[in-house]
Amino acid sequence: MVGYIERALHLRLAVTTKAAQHSITLSTAGKKDTAGEGYTINVSKDGIRIEGASDAGLFYGVQTLRKALPVLQSAAKGVEVPAGEVADAPRFAYRGAHLDVSRHFVTLDSVKRFIDMLALHNINRFHWHLTDDQGWRIEIKKYPKLTTVGAYRPETVIGHNTGKYDGKPHQGFYTQKEAREIVEYARERFITVIPEIDLPGHMQAALAAYPELGCTGGPYEVWKMWGVSDNVLCAGKDNVLKFIDDVLTEITKIFPSEYIHVGGDECPKTQWAKCPACQKRIADNNLQADGKHTAEERLQSYVINHAEKTLNALGRQMIGWDETLEGGLAPNATVMSWRGEAGGIEAARQHHSVIMTPNTYLYFDYYQTKDVANEPEAIGGYLPLERVYGYEPMPRELSPEEQKYIIGVQANLWSEYIPTYRQVEYMELPRMAALAEIQWAQPEKKDYKQFLKRLVRLIDHYDALGYNYARHIYEVNPKYIVDDVKHVIRAEMTTMDNAEIRYTLDGTEPTQQSPLYKGAVEISKDACSSPSMAGISSTAPWYW
Ligand code: ACM
Ligand code: ZN
Repeated sequence: MVGYIERALHLRLAVTTKAAQHSITLSTAGKKDTAGEGYTINVSKDGIRIEGASDAGLFYGVQTLRKALPVLQSAAKGVEVPAGEVADAPRFAYRGAHLDVSRHFVTLDSVKRFIDMLALHNINRFHWHLTDDQGWRIEIKKYPKLTTVGAYRPETVIGHNTGKYDGKPHQGFYTQKEAREIVEYARERFITVIPEIDLPGHMQAALAAYPELGCTGGPYEVWKMWGVSDNVLCAGKDNVLKFIDDVLTEITKIFPSEYIHVGGDECPKTQWAKCPACQKRIADNNLQADGKHTAEERLQSYVINHAEKTLNALGRQMIGWDETLEGGLAPNATVMSWRGEAGGIEAARQHHSVIMTPNTYLYFDYYQTKDVANEPEAIGGYLPLERVYGYEPMPRELSPEEQKYIIGVQANLWSEYIPTYRQVEYMELPRMAALAEIQWAQPEKKDYKQFLKRLVRLIDHYDALGYNYARHIYEVNPKYIVDDVKHVIRAEMTTMDNAEIRYTLDGTEPTQQSPLYKGAVEISKDACSSPSMAGISSTAPWYW
């Protein structure tokens, strides 16, 4: 709290364990709520009291007070906090954010910065996607080549698999010691790190290091392009099952989280269909096609079931992407529903826990505006802030009993088109603020207009923290109305915070000296294709 206040107000408060007048009192003496993450804040003329249902609850109370403070440029002489009482608790116990560090590696400091950003948004799970076709990023002592070979990519395709390559090596991995440092850094902020070892697909970097783990024996290279590779772990070889056990055993020693993610998404079965070892496994275990699933889908299930048994024996629970439904779910699996919500709905009906991460609402690698020409290249899609905010994760088609299996919500950030950490922030912010409200707020309390007002204040904190956030909310929103009587087009322009708008009608860039927008502009003859507008926002300038 002292650090947060110092950053916002440039004041360093003294800390004492004795009762003091006019102080901010932090306490966990309050009653425990069911999730243990609730808190109350009481502000009166005598001081501020934050009471948490647990240490985590207290932490969220501190975050709320922190966000309620203004961000000042110099030391505060005094700040006013409105008197009142807040009682708050999260809607979902699992509030996640995912980061892919395989496609593009980010430094340890950047991972910590990411975790700080999660803390600001009351997010309590960091899903760390550590392995994929394009790079293996975590040290495994039994298989050193995973990082000496698998963490190195000689070059990367330019753009959307153009066939042209950049000629620049890309590499990086976290030692086990560094990963433990991240676990501890996150724990101090009440965030659990959930590692993902994506299997049996998305394994080409591992195959480059250990080609004997593939169906063909290779050789393989750490993949230099994007997409879904046909080169996957051979499901017929016992050394592959041992590899999975060894890797997961080391992973559980680094990461104390209850859940370990084993991927299971996008595993092409083309090589399994031709591989004698895979076909023998199918025959030996009677994994024949059964009308519902193909033999190869059941083989995938066999591998995932094996991983789950290993994890359960180590005292852990397994999460898999929704493809793990395809050959039949492993008995205790939690499902992360990414291809829309259908997989999550199906898993909840089968009484498996579900985390909703539908790409249609929560894939933050998608564009956040239609004006893609002025954006850094992204994977595609269109996911503006308002759409994220509007997401309701509890499917209406589930019964109240089945709804209990929806334990949480998460947004994912795949990094094929995100080469720098600054761009990670740009893609996350401010959409993460909308995510945070889906995860935390009760649906009847949600109100997009109110959210935008609060967001303007939150963005002051983004500025103070030096975050690189997208500014689309400051754009001018045009509405064109054709007036058949006067034979004009009326252009109405609004901004989110009623910022000053200046415009031109000749296609040139508006400046501070251009005419001020005072109401609908009537266009009666050829102007440029649309009037150019510049919104001069109260918070940050943004030109349209
Ligand atoms: C995924 O987006 N392949 C889980
Ligand atoms: Zn095979």
